[in-house]
Amino acid sequence: MTVREDILKRIDEKYAAINQNSNVHLEGLVHANPITYWDYILPEALLGLQIQRTTLPDEMVFIMYHQINELLFKMILWEIDQVSNAQSIEAAFFTEKLRRVSRYFDMLSSSFDIMGDGMEKEQYMKFRNTLTPASGFQSAQYRLIEFASTEIINLIDNRFRATIDRNTPIEHAFEHLYWQAAGKDFATGHKNTLLVNFEKKYKHDLLLKMEDYNTTNLWTKFQQLSVHVQQDEALIKAMRHYDYTVNVSWVMAHYNAAGKYLGNAEATGGSDWRKYMHPKYQRRIFFPGLWSEDELKNWGEGL
Ligand code: HEM
Repeated sequence: MTVREDILKRIDEKYAAINQNSNVHLEGLVHANPITYWDYILPEALLGLQIQRTTLPDEMVFIMYHQINELLFKMILWEIDQVSNAQSIEAAFFTEKLRRVSRYFDMLSSSFDIMGDGMEKEQYMKFRNTLTPASGFQSAQYRLIEFASTEIINLIDNRFRATIDRNTPIEHAFEHLYWQAAGKDFATGHKNTLLVNFEKKYKHDLLLKMEDYNTTNLWTKFQQLSVHVQQDEALIKAMRHYDYTVNVSWVMAHYNAAGKYLGNAEATGGSDWRKYMHPKYQRRIFFPGLWSEDELKNWGEGL
């Protein structure tokens, strides 16, 4: 059989399997547009999404860097979801995906200077007023990465962890996630606009995702690997690196950038941000079993 005959045979088989006439599809090829970079990557669409709300040029840096973050968040979720959706996982597959995810978050951490040093404080202090009461806090993908990385219990506000277990209804757990503290007064239940707007838009979807990921997150999947693989030093190192990058390095880069601009000022989202954003208060740790007691106790201290 010639190469061409072999290709035609495989095309016939492919379309026969879905009850389609392969001649029609081949005929379609006669009229198909040859693909171009701009039809495929869609730069005009992508580059048309940067709409300023003020006249200050550095607002463009702020918009574009947030969009770059959202694209990388999407790449991270793309990799984690392949682990989440796999029925049985080979150690090499798990390690490779984790390394990819980790590399993407390293990019986010190491590039945060774009926010810290890449804008004029004077301009930021002006355009931020136009953005109130919005905040990066309202990034749904960031929350999905957390749910996809660890069990819900590790995302519960430290003050309530002892009162919540696996049988707690998902909505009750949601109300006690650590990030509620950015906008909720737990004594009265009152929520600020930042949180009210975020939940109005995403709460329904987030609850469904919490449920899904609670059995398919990276930490659960890791614990399902064979004991032998779980003890692999390179894998443990990669897991700890990812945990530290997301929950300490990125958090501190973000916190320091906020410090530069805000000083003692109130955040656009209105949280008590100095307290809320520091890792030693959040105590968000994706893989607690991979850290020693001392490391857990001193999480985020001395930074
Ligand atoms: C000058 C730059 C930035 C400043 C001053 C800043 C400030 C803040 C502040 C004060 C908060 C606390 C919530 C609030 O009251 O608003 C926050 C939360 C948050 N911001 Fe930013 N931010 C900046 C850039 C970014 C970027 C580039 C991203 C990327 C998407 C981002 C994502 C987030 C996320 C995900 C949270 C929630 C974090 C958590 O719950 O621990 N921020 N930000």
